[in-house]
Amino acid sequence: MAAEEKYESHEYDVVVIGAGGAGLRAAIEASAQGVKTALVCKSLLGKAHTVMAEGGIAAALGNVYPEDNWTVHFRDTMRGGKLLNNWRMAQIHAQEAPQRVLELEEWGALFDRTKEGLILQRDFGGHRYARLAHVGDRTGLEMIRTLQQHAVHKGIDVYMECAIQRLLKDGERICGAFGYWRESGKFILFKCKAVVLATGGGGKAWKITSNSWEYTGDGITLALDAGADLIDLEMVQFHPTGMVWPPSVRGILVTEGVRGDGGTLKNSEGQRFMFKYIPEFFKAETAETEREADAWYEDKKNRRTPDLLPRDEVARAINAEVKAGRGTPHGGVYMDIASRRPADYIKRRLPSMYHQFKELADVDITKEPMEVGPTCHYFMGGIRVVPDTTAATVPGLFAAGEVAAGLHGANRLGGNSLSDLVVFGRRAGLYAAEYARAFTGAVTVDTGQLHAIEQELLAPFTTQGGENPFALHTDLQECMQNLVGIIRIEAELKLALDKIANFRQRLQKVHVGGNRQYNPGWHMALDLYSMLTVSEAVTLSAIERKESRGGHTRDDYPKPDPKFGKVNVVVRKKKGQLSVAQELLSEIPEELKKIIEVQQ
Ligand code: FUM
Repeated sequence: MAAEEKYESHEYDVVVIGAGGAGLRAAIEASAQGVKTALVCKSLLGKAHTVMAEGGIAAALGNVYPEDNWTVHFRDTMRGGKLLNNWRMAQIHAQEAPQRVLELEEWGALFDRTKEGLILQRDFGGHRYARLAHVGDRTGLEMIRTLQQHAVHKGIDVYMECAIQRLLKDGERICGAFGYWRESGKFILFKCKAVVLATGGGGKAWKITSNSWEYTGDGITLALDAGADLIDLEMVQFHPTGMVWPPSVRGILVTEGVRGDGGTLKNSEGQRFMFKYIPEFFKAETAETEREADAWYEDKKNRRTPDLLPRDEVARAINAEVKAGRGTPHGGVYMDIASRRPADYIKRRLPSMYHQFKELADVDITKEPMEVGPTCHYFMGGIRVVPDTTAATVPGLFAAGEVAAGLHGANRLGGNSLSDLVVFGRRAGLYAAEYARAFTGAVTVDTGQLHAIEQELLAPFTTQGGENPFALHTDLQECMQNLVGIIRIEAELKLALDKIANFRQRLQKVHVGGNRQYNPGWHMALDLYSMLTVSEAVTLSAIERKESRGGHTRDDYPKPDPKFGKVNVVVRKKKGQLSVAQELLSEIPEELKKIIEVQQ
Protein backbone atom coordinates (compact mmCIF):
# COMPACT_ATOMS: atom_id res chain seq x y z
CA MET A 1 0.00 0.00 0.00
CA ALA A 2 1.32 3.48 -0.84
CA ALA A 3 2.29 5.57 2.19
CA GLU A 4 -0.24 8.21 1.13
CA GLU A 5 -3.01 5.62 1.47
CA LYS A 6 -1.79 4.13 4.73
CA TYR A 7 -1.09 7.37 6.61
CA GLU A 8 -2.56 10.83 6.62
CA SER A 9 -0.08 12.58 4.28
CA HIS A 10 0.74 16.17 3.40
CA GLU A 11 3.23 17.75 1.06
CA TYR A 12 4.95 21.10 1.66
CA ASP A 13 7.98 23.02 0.56
CA VAL A 14 8.98 23.87 4.14
CA VAL A 15 7.87 22.19 7.35
CA VAL A 16 8.68 24.10 10.55
CA ILE A 17 8.72 21.90 13.65
CA GLY A 18 8.16 23.82 16.88
CA ALA A 19 5.96 26.88 17.31
CA GLY A 20 7.67 29.06 19.92
CA GLY A 21 9.19 32.38 18.89
CA ALA A 22 11.74 30.89 16.47
CA GLY A 23 9.30 28.50 14.79
CA LEU A 24 6.61 31.14 14.39
CA ARG A 25 9.08 33.66 12.99
CA ALA A 26 10.54 31.05 10.60
CA ALA A 27 7.09 30.03 9.35
CA ILE A 28 6.09 33.67 8.83
CA GLU A 29 9.21 34.28 6.77
CA ALA A 30 9.02 31.10 4.70
CA SER A 31 5.39 31.79 3.90
CA ALA A 32 6.22 35.43 3.02
CA GLN A 33 8.75 34.05 0.53
CA GLY A 34 5.86 32.36 -1.26
CA VAL A 35 6.63 28.73 -0.47
CA LYS A 36 4.05 26.29 0.88
CA THR A 37 4.69 26.17 4.62
CA ALA A 38 3.43 24.09 7.54
CA LEU A 39 3.93 24.77 11.24
CA VAL A 40 3.84 21.66 13.39
CA CYS A 41 3.85 21.73 17.20
CA LYS A 42 3.75 19.13 19.90
CA SER A 43 1.65 21.31 22.21
CA LEU A 44 -1.12 23.84 21.72
CA LEU A 45 -0.13 26.82 19.59
CA GLY A 46 1.21 29.56 21.85
CA LYS A 47 2.33 27.24 24.65
CA ALA A 48 6.09 27.59 24.35
CA HIS A 49 9.16 28.07 26.53
CA THR A 50 9.42 31.50 24.88
CA VAL A 51 6.94 32.75 27.49
CA MET A 52 9.51 31.87 30.17
CA ALA A 53 11.70 34.70 28.89
CA GLU A 54 9.70 37.08 30.99
CA GLY A 55 11.92 40.07 31.63
CA GLY A 56 12.57 41.25 28.09
CA ILE A 57 14.16 41.05 24.66
CA ALA A 58 17.73 42.34 24.37
CA ALA A 59 18.41 44.81 21.57
CA ALA A 60 20.72 47.84 21.43
CA LEU A 61 17.96 50.35 20.67
CA GLY A 62 19.70 52.98 22.78
CA ASN A 63 16.41 54.36 24.10
CA VAL A 64 17.51 54.59 27.73
CA TYR A 65 21.27 54.78 27.21
CA PRO A 66 21.97 56.46 23.85
CA GLU A 67 25.59 55.30 24.13
CA ASP A 68 24.43 51.71 23.53
CA ASN A 69 24.93 50.23 20.05
CA TRP A 70 25.46 46.84 18.39
CA THR A 71 29.17 46.74 19.17
CA VAL A 72 28.53 46.97 22.93
CA HIS A 73 25.82 44.29 22.69
CA PHE A 74 28.20 42.10 20.66
CA ARG A 75 30.95 42.59 23.27
CA ASP A 76 28.61 41.74 26.17
CA THR A 77 27.34 38.62 24.40
CA MET A 78 30.85 37.36 23.61
CA ARG A 79 32.16 38.08 27.09
CA GLY A 80 29.06 36.56 28.70
CA GLY A 81 29.59 33.44 26.54
CA LYS A 82 33.27 33.32 27.67
CA LEU A 83 34.30 33.67 24.02
CA LEU A 84 33.06 30.23 23.08
CA ASN A 85 30.36 31.89 20.96
CA ASN A 86 30.29 31.70 17.20
CA TRP A 87 31.44 35.29 16.59
CA ARG A 88 29.49 35.65 13.35
CA MET A 89 26.22 34.63 15.00
CA ALA A 90 26.89 37.09 17.82
CA GLN A 91 27.58 39.82 15.29
CA ILE A 92 24.44 39.15 13.22
CA HIS A 93 22.37 38.94 16.41
CA ALA A 94 23.59 42.25 17.83
CA GLN A 95 23.21 44.01 14.47
CA GLU A 96 19.74 42.72 13.62
CA ALA A 97 18.03 42.58 17.03
CA PRO A 98 16.86 46.24 16.97
CA GLN A 99 15.15 45.76 13.55
CA ARG A 100 13.37 42.66 14.79
CA VAL A 101 12.10 44.45 17.93
CA LEU A 102 10.75 47.33 15.83
CA GLU A 103 9.13 44.79 13.52
CA LEU A 104 7.38 43.18 16.49
CA GLU A 105 6.13 46.61 17.49
CA GLU A 106 4.86 47.19 13.96
CA TRP A 107 3.04 43.85 14.14
CA GLY A 108 1.25 44.93 17.32
CA ALA A 109 3.48 44.12 20.32
CA LEU A 110 2.77 46.59 23.12
CA PHE A 111 6.03 47.44 24.88
CA ASP A 112 6.35 49.51 28.06
CA ARG A 113 7.36 53.12 27.30
CA THR A 114 9.86 55.77 28.39
CA LYS A 115 8.56 59.22 29.36
CA GLU A 116 9.36 60.28 25.80
CA GLY A 117 7.21 57.47 24.38
CA LEU A 118 10.07 55.25 23.22
CA ILE A 119 10.29 51.52 23.97
CA LEU A 120 11.49 51.25 27.59
CA GLN A 121 14.54 49.09 28.33
CA ARG A 122 15.52 47.46 31.64
CA ASP A 123 18.73 46.15 33.15
CA PHE A 124 19.67 42.47 33.02
CA GLY A 125 22.78 40.55 34.00
CA GLY A 126 25.88 40.97 31.88
CA HIS A 127 24.39 43.75 29.73
CA ARG A 128 26.42 46.95 30.02
CA TYR A 129 23.37 49.14 29.49
CA ALA A 130 19.66 48.82 30.23
CA ARG A 131 18.83 47.02 27.00
CA LEU A 132 15.82 44.77 27.47
CA ALA A 133 12.65 45.95 25.75
CA HIS A 134 9.81 44.56 27.83
CA VAL A 135 6.15 44.34 28.67
CA GLY A 136 6.16 44.20 32.49
CA ASP A 137 7.32 40.66 33.18
CA ARG A 138 5.31 39.10 30.34
CA THR A 139 7.54 39.87 27.38
CA GLY A 140 7.79 36.34 25.95
CA LEU A 141 4.03 36.01 26.16
CA GLU A 142 3.48 39.27 24.30
CA MET A 143 5.96 38.18 21.66
CA ILE A 144 4.19 34.86 21.14
CA ARG A 145 0.81 36.60 20.99
CA THR A 146 2.10 38.98 18.34
CA LEU A 147 3.80 36.34 16.20
CA GLN A 148 0.91 33.92 16.53
CA GLN A 149 -1.60 36.50 15.31
CA HIS A 150 0.67 37.41 12.45
CA ALA A 151 1.14 33.75 11.44
CA VAL A 152 -2.58 33.00 11.64
CA HIS A 153 -3.35 36.02 9.46
CA LYS A 154 -0.83 34.79 6.90
CA GLY A 155 -2.90 31.62 6.60
CA ILE A 156 -0.05 29.26 7.49
CA ASP A 157 -1.25 25.66 8.00
CA VAL A 158 -0.85 24.79 11.67
CA TYR A 159 -0.76 21.21 13.02
CA MET A 160 -1.18 21.37 16.80
CA GLU A 161 -0.61 18.53 19.26
CA CYS A 162 1.27 16.71 16.55
CA ALA A 163 4.54 15.12 17.76
CA ILE A 164 7.21 14.53 15.11
CA GLN A 165 9.27 11.40 15.86
CA ARG A 166 11.65 10.98 12.93
CA LEU A 167 13.06 13.02 10.06
CA LEU A 168 13.06 11.25 6.70
CA LYS A 169 15.87 11.35 4.19
CA ASP A 170 16.24 10.68 0.50
CA GLY A 171 19.93 9.81 0.22
CA GLU A 172 21.75 12.57 2.05
CA ARG A 173 18.98 15.13 2.06
CA ILE A 174 15.86 15.70 4.10
CA CYS A 175 12.59 14.70 2.42
CA GLY A 176 10.05 14.68 5.22
CA ALA A 177 9.00 14.05 8.79
CA PHE A 178 6.91 11.36 10.46
CA GLY A 179 4.95 11.66 13.70
CA TYR A 180 1.62 11.14 15.41
CA TRP A 181 -1.39 13.11 16.56
CA ARG A 182 -1.35 13.20 20.34
CA GLU A 183 -5.13 13.06 20.51
CA SER A 184 -5.90 10.13 18.21
CA GLY A 185 -2.50 8.41 18.26
CA LYS A 186 -2.70 8.12 14.48
CA PHE A 187 0.43 8.54 12.39
CA ILE A 188 1.01 11.44 10.02
CA LEU A 189 3.49 11.88 7.20
CA PHE A 190 4.89 15.18 5.93
CA LYS A 191 6.75 15.14 2.64
CA CYS A 192 8.79 18.28 2.14
CA LYS A 193 11.88 19.84 0.63
CA ALA A 194 13.18 21.48 3.80
CA VAL A 195 12.64 21.20 7.55
CA VAL A 196 13.26 23.95 10.09
CA LEU A 197 13.75 22.65 13.63
CA ALA A 198 12.68 25.11 16.35
CA THR A 199 11.81 22.72 19.15
CA GLY A 200 13.71 24.31 22.07
CA GLY A 201 15.87 22.44 24.56
CA GLY A 202 15.71 19.43 26.83
CA GLY A 203 15.42 20.76 30.38
CA LYS A 204 12.81 18.17 31.27
CA ALA A 205 15.58 15.62 31.78
CA TRP A 206 16.45 17.51 35.02
CA LYS A 207 14.35 17.41 38.17
CA ILE A 208 14.37 21.13 38.96
CA THR A 209 13.60 23.01 35.80
CA SER A 210 11.73 25.98 34.41
CA ASN A 211 10.89 23.86 31.33
CA SER A 212 7.43 22.37 30.92
CA TRP A 213 6.57 18.88 29.65
CA GLU A 214 7.27 19.60 25.98
CA TYR A 215 11.02 20.22 26.41
CA THR A 216 12.43 16.75 26.01
CA GLY A 217 15.22 17.40 23.50
CA ASP A 218 13.20 16.24 20.50
CA GLY A 219 14.74 18.49 17.86
CA ILE A 220 18.29 17.79 19.01
CA THR A 221 17.59 14.06 18.78
CA LEU A 222 15.83 14.29 15.40
CA ALA A 223 18.82 16.16 13.99
CA LEU A 224 21.41 13.82 15.50
CA ASP A 225 19.59 10.75 14.18
CA ALA A 226 19.45 12.39 10.75
CA GLY A 227 23.25 12.76 10.80
CA ALA A 228 23.65 16.38 11.95
CA ASP A 229 26.48 17.63 14.17
CA LEU A 230 25.74 18.90 17.67
CA ILE A 231 28.00 21.29 19.58
CA ASP A 232 28.39 22.71 23.10
CA LEU A 233 25.96 20.28 24.74
CA GLU A 234 27.88 20.51 28.02
CA MET A 235 26.73 24.12 28.32
CA VAL A 236 23.47 23.94 30.25
CA GLN A 237 22.18 27.12 31.86
CA PHE A 238 20.86 27.04 35.40
CA HIS A 239 18.87 30.23 35.87
CA PRO A 240 19.78 31.51 39.33
CA THR A 241 16.24 32.22 40.42
CA GLY A 242 13.54 29.60 40.31
CA MET A 243 10.92 29.15 43.02
CA VAL A 244 11.98 26.70 45.74
CA TRP A 245 8.81 26.43 47.81
CA PRO A 246 6.30 24.77 47.94
CA PRO A 247 7.71 21.58 46.38
CA SER A 248 4.99 21.39 43.72
CA VAL A 249 6.21 24.62 42.12
CA ARG A 250 9.94 24.14 42.59
CA GLY A 251 11.83 25.31 39.50
CA ILE A 252 9.20 27.72 38.15
CA LEU A 253 11.01 30.77 36.85
CA VAL A 254 11.36 33.99 38.83
CA THR A 255 12.38 36.57 36.28
CA GLU A 256 15.77 38.23 36.33
CA GLY A 257 13.66 41.37 35.89
CA VAL A 258 13.23 41.34 39.70
CA ARG A 259 16.96 42.01 40.07
CA GLY A 260 16.94 44.23 36.97
CA ASP A 261 14.41 46.43 38.73
CA GLY A 262 16.39 46.65 41.97
CA GLY A 263 15.87 43.33 43.78
CA THR A 264 18.82 42.00 45.78
CA LEU A 265 19.96 38.56 46.90
CA LYS A 266 20.59 37.83 50.58
CA ASN A 267 21.60 34.77 52.54
CA SER A 268 20.09 33.54 55.81
CA GLU A 269 22.46 35.86 57.70
CA GLY A 270 21.02 38.86 55.89
CA GLN A 271 24.23 39.45 53.87
CA ARG A 272 24.19 40.61 50.26
CA PHE A 273 26.51 37.73 49.56
CA MET A 274 27.08 38.47 45.88
CA PHE A 275 29.69 41.06 46.87
CA LYS A 276 31.93 38.22 48.02
CA TYR A 277 31.91 36.57 44.63
CA ILE A 278 33.30 39.42 42.55
CA PRO A 279 36.47 40.62 44.24
CA GLU A 280 38.19 41.47 40.98
CA PHE A 281 36.01 44.33 39.79
CA PHE A 282 33.94 45.35 42.77
CA LYS A 283 35.80 44.73 45.99
CA ALA A 284 33.67 44.22 49.07
CA GLU A 285 35.77 46.77 50.96
CA THR A 286 34.80 49.52 48.51
CA ALA A 287 31.15 48.93 49.30
CA GLU A 288 30.78 48.46 53.00
CA THR A 289 27.17 49.39 53.08
CA GLU A 290 24.31 48.63 50.81
CA ARG A 291 23.93 52.33 50.12
CA GLU A 292 27.56 52.60 48.93
CA ALA A 293 27.05 49.64 46.69
CA ASP A 294 23.92 51.13 45.21
CA ALA A 295 25.56 54.51 44.68
CA TRP A 296 28.39 52.79 42.85
CA TYR A 297 25.87 51.04 40.67
CA GLU A 298 23.88 54.17 39.94
CA ASP A 299 27.08 55.83 38.72
CA LYS A 300 26.79 55.66 34.95
CA LYS A 301 30.51 54.86 34.58
CA ASN A 302 30.22 51.67 36.58
CA ARG A 303 26.68 50.39 35.99
CA ARG A 304 27.29 47.05 37.57
CA THR A 305 25.72 45.41 40.56
CA PRO A 306 26.89 41.99 41.68
CA ASP A 307 23.27 40.83 41.82
CA LEU A 308 23.26 41.22 38.05
CA LEU A 309 26.37 39.30 37.20
CA PRO A 310 25.91 36.77 34.36
CA ARG A 311 23.67 33.85 35.28
CA ASP A 312 26.37 31.19 35.56
CA GLU A 313 28.16 33.27 38.20
CA VAL A 314 25.04 34.06 40.24
CA ALA A 315 23.81 30.44 40.11
CA ARG A 316 27.19 29.17 41.37
CA ALA A 317 27.23 31.75 44.17
CA ILE A 318 23.74 30.75 45.36
CA ASN A 319 24.76 27.10 45.20
CA ALA A 320 27.84 27.85 47.33
CA GLU A 321 25.85 29.81 49.95
CA VAL A 322 23.33 27.00 50.35
CA LYS A 323 26.09 24.38 50.57
CA ALA A 324 27.83 26.47 53.23
CA GLY A 325 24.67 26.37 55.38
CA ARG A 326 23.60 29.95 54.73
CA GLY A 327 20.51 29.04 52.75
CA THR A 328 16.82 29.46 53.53
CA PRO A 329 14.82 26.73 55.28
CA HIS A 330 13.85 25.28 51.89
CA GLY A 331 17.32 25.30 50.37
CA GLY A 332 17.38 28.58 48.48
CA VAL A 333 18.39 32.18 49.22
CA TYR A 334 16.27 35.28 49.70
CA MET A 335 15.51 37.77 46.98
CA ASP A 336 14.21 41.05 48.28
CA ILE A 337 12.51 43.77 46.35
CA ALA A 338 9.95 44.72 49.02
CA SER A 339 12.42 46.80 51.04
CA ARG A 340 13.76 48.55 47.95
CA ARG A 341 10.78 49.50 45.81
CA PRO A 342 7.26 50.73 46.61
CA ALA A 343 4.39 48.24 46.32
CA ASP A 344 2.73 49.98 43.36
CA TYR A 345 6.02 49.95 41.45
CA ILE A 346 6.44 46.21 42.07
CA LYS A 347 2.88 45.43 41.01
CA ARG A 348 3.21 47.52 37.86
CA ARG A 349 6.65 46.28 36.80
CA LEU A 350 6.37 42.67 37.94
CA PRO A 351 2.67 41.76 37.85
CA SER A 352 3.20 38.07 37.06
CA MET A 353 5.75 37.65 39.84
CA TYR A 354 3.36 39.33 42.29
CA HIS A 355 0.54 36.91 41.38
CA GLN A 356 2.82 33.88 41.04
CA PHE A 357 4.12 34.20 44.60
CA LYS A 358 0.77 35.24 46.07
CA GLU A 359 -1.14 32.39 44.51
CA LEU A 360 1.43 29.60 44.50
CA ALA A 361 3.40 30.31 47.69
CA ASP A 362 1.19 32.69 49.69
CA VAL A 363 4.03 35.23 49.71
CA ASP A 364 3.36 38.92 49.15
CA ILE A 365 6.50 40.12 47.38
CA THR A 366 5.63 43.76 48.09
CA LYS A 367 6.05 42.96 51.79
CA GLU A 368 8.33 39.92 52.14
CA PRO A 369 11.33 38.40 50.39
CA MET A 370 11.04 35.50 47.94
CA GLU A 371 12.89 32.21 48.38
CA VAL A 372 14.75 31.35 45.18
CA GLY A 373 17.35 28.90 43.87
CA PRO A 374 18.85 27.72 40.57
CA THR A 375 16.65 25.96 38.03
CA CYS A 376 17.63 24.23 34.78
CA HIS A 377 16.50 26.74 32.19
CA TYR A 378 18.26 26.66 28.84
CA PHE A 379 20.56 24.69 26.53
CA MET A 380 23.31 26.84 25.03
CA GLY A 381 24.32 23.77 23.02
CA GLY A 382 22.41 22.09 20.24
CA ILE A 383 22.50 21.74 16.47
CA ARG A 384 25.55 23.15 14.70
CA VAL A 385 24.44 25.65 12.05
CA VAL A 386 25.96 27.90 9.40
CA PRO A 387 25.70 31.36 11.02
CA ASP A 388 24.22 33.29 8.12
CA THR A 389 21.76 30.68 6.86
CA THR A 390 21.01 28.51 9.94
CA ALA A 391 21.65 25.42 7.76
CA ALA A 392 22.57 22.29 9.75
CA THR A 393 25.16 19.84 8.45
CA VAL A 394 22.44 17.80 6.67
CA PRO A 395 21.12 19.24 3.36
CA GLY A 396 17.57 20.53 3.72
CA LEU A 397 17.76 20.84 7.52
CA PHE A 398 17.73 24.24 9.25
CA ALA A 399 17.55 25.12 12.94
CA ALA A 400 16.82 28.23 14.99
CA GLY A 401 16.29 29.25 18.60
CA GLU A 402 17.32 27.17 21.59
CA VAL A 403 17.68 23.98 19.54
CA ALA A 404 20.50 25.61 17.55
CA ALA A 405 23.91 26.31 19.07
CA GLY A 406 26.65 28.88 18.69
CA LEU A 407 25.27 32.31 19.51
CA HIS A 408 25.50 32.07 23.28
CA GLY A 409 28.75 30.16 23.67
CA ALA A 410 29.31 28.93 27.21
CA ASN A 411 26.63 31.09 28.84
CA ARG A 412 23.64 33.01 27.53
CA LEU A 413 22.84 36.51 28.75
CA GLY A 414 19.22 36.92 29.83
CA GLY A 415 17.07 38.52 27.13
CA ASN A 416 19.35 37.32 24.32
CA SER A 417 17.07 34.33 23.78
CA LEU A 418 14.08 36.35 22.60
CA SER A 419 16.22 38.33 20.18
CA ASP A 420 17.90 35.08 19.05
CA LEU A 421 14.46 33.62 18.23
CA VAL A 422 13.38 36.42 15.95
CA VAL A 423 16.78 37.17 14.35
CA PHE A 424 17.59 33.55 13.50
CA GLY A 425 13.96 32.42 13.14
CA ARG A 426 13.60 34.90 10.29
CA ARG A 427 16.85 33.73 8.70
CA ALA A 428 15.84 30.06 9.02
CA GLY A 429 12.55 30.73 7.21
CA LEU A 430 14.29 32.77 4.55
CA TYR A 431 17.03 30.27 3.76
CA ALA A 432 14.81 27.19 4.05
CA ALA A 433 12.47 28.81 1.50
CA GLU A 434 15.43 29.63 -0.74
CA TYR A 435 16.65 26.03 -0.48
CA ALA A 436 13.17 24.66 -1.24
CA ARG A 437 12.79 26.91 -4.29
CA ALA A 438 16.15 25.76 -5.66
CA PHE A 439 15.27 22.09 -5.07
CA THR A 440 14.86 20.22 -8.31
CA GLY A 441 13.16 16.89 -8.79
CA ALA A 442 10.45 15.13 -6.87
CA VAL A 443 10.29 14.62 -3.12
CA THR A 444 10.51 10.85 -2.72
CA VAL A 445 9.94 9.07 0.57
CA ASP A 446 11.06 5.46 0.91
CA THR A 447 7.89 3.98 2.37
CA GLY A 448 9.75 0.86 3.54
CA GLN A 449 11.36 2.87 6.33
CA LEU A 450 7.97 4.08 7.57
CA HIS A 451 6.86 0.59 8.47
CA ALA A 452 10.01 0.06 10.56
CA ILE A 453 9.51 3.42 12.33
CA GLU A 454 5.88 2.54 13.03
CA GLN A 455 6.96 -0.73 14.68
CA GLU A 456 9.50 1.08 16.85
CA LEU A 457 6.97 3.68 17.96
CA LEU A 458 4.33 1.11 18.84
CA ALA A 459 6.76 -1.21 20.67
CA PRO A 460 5.80 0.03 24.19
CA PHE A 461 2.34 -1.49 23.72
CA THR A 462 3.74 -4.97 23.13
CA THR A 463 6.92 -5.20 25.24
CA GLN A 464 7.25 -7.55 28.18
CA GLY A 465 9.00 -6.34 31.30
CA GLY A 466 6.54 -3.90 32.75
CA GLU A 467 8.82 -0.87 33.21
CA ASN A 468 6.76 2.22 33.98
CA PRO A 469 7.76 5.19 31.77
CA PHE A 470 7.07 7.72 34.53
CA ALA A 471 9.27 5.84 37.02
CA LEU A 472 12.05 5.80 34.44
CA HIS A 473 11.64 9.54 33.87
CA THR A 474 11.89 10.20 37.63
CA ASP A 475 15.09 8.17 37.82
CA LEU A 476 16.59 10.01 34.86
CA GLN A 477 15.73 13.38 36.40
CA GLU A 478 17.35 12.38 39.72
CA CYS A 479 20.46 11.26 37.86
CA MET A 480 20.83 14.44 35.77
CA GLN A 481 20.03 16.71 38.72
CA ASN A 482 22.49 15.06 41.10
CA LEU A 483 25.30 14.03 38.77
CA VAL A 484 25.19 16.45 35.82
CA GLY A 485 24.13 19.63 37.61
CA ILE A 486 25.74 23.00 38.29
CA ILE A 487 28.97 21.59 39.73
CA ARG A 488 30.40 18.53 37.98
CA ILE A 489 33.18 16.06 38.61
CA GLU A 490 34.51 13.25 36.43
CA ALA A 491 33.56 10.34 38.70
CA GLU A 492 29.95 11.52 38.93
CA LEU A 493 29.72 12.20 35.20
CA LYS A 494 30.95 8.68 34.49
CA LEU A 495 28.45 7.28 36.95
CA ALA A 496 25.73 9.24 35.13
CA LEU A 497 26.85 7.73 31.84
CA ASP A 498 26.56 4.20 33.29
CA LYS A 499 23.12 5.01 34.63
CA ILE A 500 21.99 6.40 31.26
CA ALA A 501 23.16 3.19 29.57
CA ASN A 502 21.09 1.25 32.08
CA PHE A 503 18.09 3.55 31.51
CA ARG A 504 18.37 2.80 27.79
CA GLN A 505 18.04 -0.91 28.55
CA ARG A 506 15.08 -0.21 30.78
CA LEU A 507 13.49 1.83 27.99
CA GLN A 508 13.43 -1.34 25.87
CA LYS A 509 11.20 -2.88 28.54
CA VAL A 510 8.86 0.05 29.06
CA HIS A 511 5.29 -1.08 28.76
CA VAL A 512 2.18 1.03 28.37
CA GLY A 513 -1.41 -0.11 28.66
CA GLY A 514 -4.56 1.18 27.01
CA ASN A 515 -4.84 2.27 23.43
CA ARG A 516 -3.26 4.95 21.25
CA GLN A 517 -5.86 7.64 21.92
CA TYR A 518 -4.45 10.37 24.14
CA ASN A 519 -2.24 8.05 26.09
CA PRO A 520 0.21 10.01 28.32
CA GLY A 521 2.17 6.87 29.22
CA TRP A 522 2.88 6.20 25.55
CA HIS A 523 3.83 9.85 24.95
CA MET A 524 6.26 9.70 27.87
CA ALA A 525 7.76 6.42 26.59
CA LEU A 526 8.45 8.12 23.24
CA ASP A 527 9.79 11.31 24.86
CA LEU A 528 12.20 9.22 26.94
CA TYR A 529 14.06 8.24 23.78
CA SER A 530 15.02 11.87 23.13
CA MET A 531 15.58 12.69 26.80
CA LEU A 532 18.04 9.81 27.09
CA THR A 533 19.76 10.89 23.89
CA VAL A 534 20.29 14.48 25.02
CA SER A 535 21.28 13.35 28.52
CA GLU A 536 23.98 11.13 27.05
CA ALA A 537 25.16 13.88 24.70
CA VAL A 538 25.36 16.42 27.57
CA THR A 539 27.21 13.98 29.84
CA LEU A 540 29.71 12.85 27.20
CA SER A 541 30.44 16.49 26.32
CA ALA A 542 30.80 17.40 30.00
CA ILE A 543 33.37 14.64 30.46
CA GLU A 544 35.27 15.81 27.37
CA ARG A 545 35.58 19.46 28.48
CA LYS A 546 38.19 19.27 31.24
CA GLU A 547 37.94 22.86 32.42
CA SER A 548 35.38 25.26 33.90
CA ARG A 549 33.77 27.80 31.61
CA GLY A 550 30.36 29.46 31.72
CA GLY A 551 27.57 27.00 32.35
CA HIS A 552 30.03 24.11 32.71
CA THR A 553 31.79 23.99 36.10
CA ARG A 554 34.15 21.11 36.84
CA ASP A 555 35.18 20.83 40.48
CA ASP A 556 38.16 18.75 39.33
CA TYR A 557 39.21 21.37 36.74
CA PRO A 558 38.08 24.61 38.44
CA LYS A 559 39.71 27.09 36.05
CA PRO A 560 39.23 27.92 32.37
CA ASP A 561 41.90 26.29 30.20
CA PRO A 562 42.97 28.40 27.18
CA LYS A 563 43.27 25.21 25.11
CA PHE A 564 39.59 24.44 25.64
CA GLY A 565 38.72 28.08 24.98
CA LYS A 566 39.55 27.43 21.33
CA VAL A 567 37.34 24.39 20.73
CA ASN A 568 33.76 23.23 20.54
CA VAL A 569 32.92 19.76 21.76
CA VAL A 570 31.11 18.12 18.83
CA VAL A 571 28.73 15.16 19.18
CA ARG A 572 27.87 12.86 16.26
CA LYS A 573 26.05 9.57 15.93
CA LYS A 574 27.85 6.82 14.06
CA LYS A 575 26.52 3.28 13.72
CA GLY A 576 24.05 3.91 16.50
CA GLN A 577 26.70 5.18 18.97
CA LEU A 578 27.33 8.75 20.11
CA SER A 579 30.90 9.98 19.75
CA VAL A 580 32.59 13.23 20.85
CA ALA A 581 35.38 15.22 19.25
CA GLN A 582 37.04 18.59 19.82
CA GLU A 583 37.00 20.96 16.84
CA LEU A 584 38.53 24.41 16.50
CA LEU A 585 36.33 27.48 16.69
CA SER A 586 36.58 29.83 13.74
CA GLU A 587 39.05 32.66 14.30
CA ILE A 588 37.53 36.01 15.35
CA PRO A 589 38.42 38.74 12.80
CA GLU A 590 40.80 41.42 14.09
CA GLU A 591 38.26 44.26 13.97
CA LEU A 592 35.83 42.28 16.13
CA LYS A 593 38.61 41.24 18.54
CA LYS A 594 39.27 44.93 19.11
CA ILE A 595 35.61 45.51 19.95
CA ILE A 596 35.65 42.67 22.48
CA GLU A 597 38.84 43.90 24.12
CA VAL A 598 37.68 47.50 24.77
CA GLN A 599 37.73 48.12 28.52
CA GLN A 600 34.41 49.35 29.85
O1 FUM B 1 14.54 35.88 33.77
C1 FUM B 1 13.93 35.94 32.72
O2 FUM B 1 13.02 36.74 32.53
C2 FUM B 1 14.36 35.06 31.62
C3 FUM B 1 14.80 35.56 30.50
C4 FUM B 1 15.58 34.74 29.56
O3 FUM B 1 15.83 33.57 29.84
O4 FUM B 1 16.03 35.29 28.54
